[in-house]
Amino acid sequence: MSSSNEDKPIRGFVFACTRKTEKECFERLLFGTEKAYGPIVIRIRKGDILFLNNLDTDTLYGVFKAVSDGGVNIEPDAWDGKYPYQVKVEILGEKIALKNAKRILGKFRIKRNTPLFGKKLLDFLDLFVPNPTLLNTTSQIFADERNRLILEQKEKIKKAIDKVDIEDEIPLIESTTFWDFPKQSYGLTPKGDNKYPGVTPALIIFNLIWRYTDPGDLVVDPMAGSGTTLDVCREEKRRCICYDIAPTRPEIIQNDARKIPLEDNSVDMVFIDSPYGDNIRYNDHPDDIGKISSETAQFYDELEKVMQEAHRILKEGKVLGWLIGDQWVKGKFTPVGFKIYNRLCKYFEPVDIICVARRGQSSHTGLWHNRARRFNFYLRGFKYLLIMRKPDGKPQKVRRREIKWKHYPRK
Ligand SMILES: C[S@@+](CC[C@H](N)C(=O)[O-])C[C@H]1O[C@@H](n2cnc3c(N)ncnc32)[C@H](O)[C@@H]1O
Repeated sequence: MSSSNEDKPIRGFVFACTRKTEKECFERLLFGTEKAYGPIVIRIRKGDILFLNNLDTDTLYGVFKAVSDGGVNIEPDAWDGKYPYQVKVEILGEKIALKNAKRILGKFRIKRNTPLFGKKLLDFLDLFVPNPTLLNTTSQIFADERNRLILEQKEKIKKAIDKVDIEDEIPLIESTTFWDFPKQSYGLTPKGDNKYPGVTPALIIFNLIWRYTDPGDLVVDPMAGSGTTLDVCREEKRRCICYDIAPTRPEIIQNDARKIPLEDNSVDMVFIDSPYGDNIRYNDHPDDIGKISSETAQFYDELEKVMQEAHRILKEGKVLGWLIGDQWVKGKFTPVGFKIYNRLCKYFEPVDIICVARRGQSSHTGLWHNRARRFNFYLRGFKYLLIMRKPDGKPQKVRRREIKWKHYPRK
């Protein structure tokens, strides 16, 4: 085990396979899965304990030890490239197969995206230490070796048991166009500074980078504020360059987003949470676009320059995520989101629009809710996440779709 992993607690993870894929798992001593489970796999460290659940036969195999960190395409040709998120494993002694996997996993309340820790992992491992009285002599020898190896792991887990900092569930990638994150951050370390005015919910960036980039890809945030994008990229193993007109951290480079010092077609994703108007005072820099009212055309003209730059640096076919909210000030509503969307459409093609619930707003108090009802206006409840793609220059495929109308009889 590498020295950096040595002092970290051992966690347990359950992989899945089918009748078709099981053989290759054991022949190659490699477990693999799809990108949808990538956030789990890249968190696996050399030395973690793994199990394999054959979903077709309802069998649970154990006990395995990760002999590599989780990564992408460790063996690119495995499973014909269908399961690129992989980890190399070794069997502790000899593998054991337990029947009724579903019932066992249910009893231990084990979910794929929640690592097993401490006592739960110890109890789970006990399932794989067979009762010696039931074995013949040859099996006994194998069992002794296996038990010794498993007990060795159990001792290591026990030693680090007080170091276990219970990690949240590993976030799953969102599946709908409505995102509502109760907390600004996730995981064990902060992402950005949740005291920074207008800080971005970290799971927005998490979701974008898992959908549209791969580990090692380059992500750029030209208006980085407290650096949420930087921290998320670090945790999710992406490279990242962050700029801001008034940097808050040494890793953020001072730069005006209207001129980004990067080459054309060089970036895999751009994320921007721009000012929504002049409602927040970010800094005293004269070139802060957050000093311009979103009721003026100038606001959109300046942000259009940022859009042009994002378009220039992005590789063809790659994605820009732009977070933006509407404004209601002193009786006047401004549909900032629609206006920004219209400008973006001059350069990009839409991929989708996400409605992100606004939480933690300073106006989300009883007093303001009451005012909104009494004076007949609405508090802002959501923001738009505009997901746009730089066209790849290839002619658009016209999709022919046969429409099969359903007829419902009228009563
Ligand atoms: C909504 S905040 C970004 C929040 C950030 N994503 C975070 O999580 O902390 C908008 C940022 O745009 C920056 N900004 C405003 N005008 C800018 C400009 N011309 N060039 C670069 N950054 C600018 C502000 O300084 C502010 O930090």
